[in-house]
Amino acid sequence: MSETTDAITGASILLDEVTKQYPGQTRPAVGGLTLEIPAGSIVMFVGPSGCGKTTTLKMINRLIEPSSGKIVINGEDVTKMDGDTLRRRIGYVIQAGGLFPHMTVAANIAIVPKMLGWDKAKIAARVDELLELVSLDPSIYRDRYPKELSGGQQQRVGVARALAADPPVLLMDEPFGAVDPITRQRLQDELLNIQSEVQKTIVMVTHDFDEAVKLGDWIAVFDEGAQLVQYDSPERVLANPANEFVENFIGSGAGLKQLTLTRVNQVKLNEAVTALPGELASDVLSRVQGAGQPLAVVLDKRRRPVRRLTRRQLSRLQIVDDTIDESMPVVGDQATLNDALDTMLVASSETAVVTGRRDAFLGVINVQTIMEAISAANAAAAEAEGDAPVGLNSGAIPAIAIEGALAANGHDGGNTSEDLQDVEEPR
Ligand SMILES: Nc1ncnc2c1ncn2[C@@H]1O[C@H](COP(=O)(O)OP(=O)(O)OP(=O)(O)O)[C@@H](O)[C@H]1O
Ligand SMILES: [Mg+2]
Repeated sequence: MSETTDAITGASILLDEVTKQYPGQTRPAVGGLTLEIPAGSIVMFVGPSGCGKTTTLKMINRLIEPSSGKIVINGEDVTKMDGDTLRRRIGYVIQAGGLFPHMTVAANIAIVPKMLGWDKAKIAARVDELLELVSLDPSIYRDRYPKELSGGQQQRVGVARALAADPPVLLMDEPFGAVDPITRQRLQDELLNIQSEVQKTIVMVTHDFDEAVKLGDWIAVFDEGAQLVQYDSPERVLANPANEFVENFIGSGAGLKQLTLTRVNQVKLNEAVTALPGELASDVLSRVQGAGQPLAVVLDKRRRPVRRLTRRQLSRLQIVDDTIDESMPVVGDQATLNDALDTMLVASSETAVVTGRRDAFLGVINVQTIMEAISAANAAAAEAEGDAPVGLNSGAIPAIAIEGALAANGHDGGNTSEDLQDVEEPR
């Protein structure tokens, strides 16, 4: 394997003419679906209720057995392989985390490693590593029970559990459906951060088209019977909906979708004066004044923002303390400009603090920056009109399916997603 493909730990998945006919139903829930999911990519399933998304997802790990067709993972036909063995290689996240209520967080995460016979020390280390990865302090959370966690925290533990044995494939069925919009946005950002570290193949079902655009490398739009209506990059689904059905699904306000297509890490952030707990407030104030800034951002020792202090607050303080301001608007750098605006609106603030990996402080974004980015992007889009690549856009899957067929035939399909980058603009 070449160096570039080593970076991808995910596996390619090919659904080959897969059908699921439930007993007593007149029409198949999934009718002859062929779909290739490139290794290391995130594919989002969208479509109306009852169209067969969950059924399709569960056939990948054979929680539901296909009536006919083939499922090929990394070139290996897994249709007849032992289901339990298969499922240990595939992480599965269901709505609300699906944690076992009588097990601690650590025990929940340890389920698959235990089944695989890992020793205790290795499991304990892995549990802590995963809790760190999903931004939950292990010393606080490992011994808690699910009911002692918020909905968003349960979802995080669900993601940690699915990642426990380092499976190449992660299946997620509306994993962030049951949480409030701001928490959902943070969970999405976290998933993208995790993905940039671990490069899994992720298949996720969502009802939220903005979520599909934000997270997906590819979006699969389904209709009744898991008919694939369009399978393309978010940019091209938005710019070129395959038909009226997709158009309706995307919803109105396509102009504003630019906000969803642009991420915080694509715009220039404003610098901000930072301060540490224990500093003299007057020292910080003179730095803030010297820099012509309205406020300072207080960071903890891991450089995570804890609160903001305005000039006025600083002038009244002696020492900067580490009181956490829960209502401070914070967005991850993977967040979309749409998320950032939401966060600012909720906090009634014209700026939001931006964090990167492991919640470390990166800078500040303000409304002005967002507005400028949108006009720039709109101008660029107008200029690029007519340049849109064709070929993957026909509602089917030619290039991807061919890669899949190659992989299934034993050719190296590991660089599939890399190849695909030749035909899509990097996001
Ligand atoms: N065990 C079952 N027995 C019979 N029919 C089923 C069964 N499970 C699902 N179905 C039917 O198969 C179709 C597809 O269901 P599926 O759960 O895959 O839809 P979905 O796209 O995930 O919908 P939603 O968005 O509401 O979750 C539906 O018509 C559903 O009623
Ligand atoms: Mg479903």
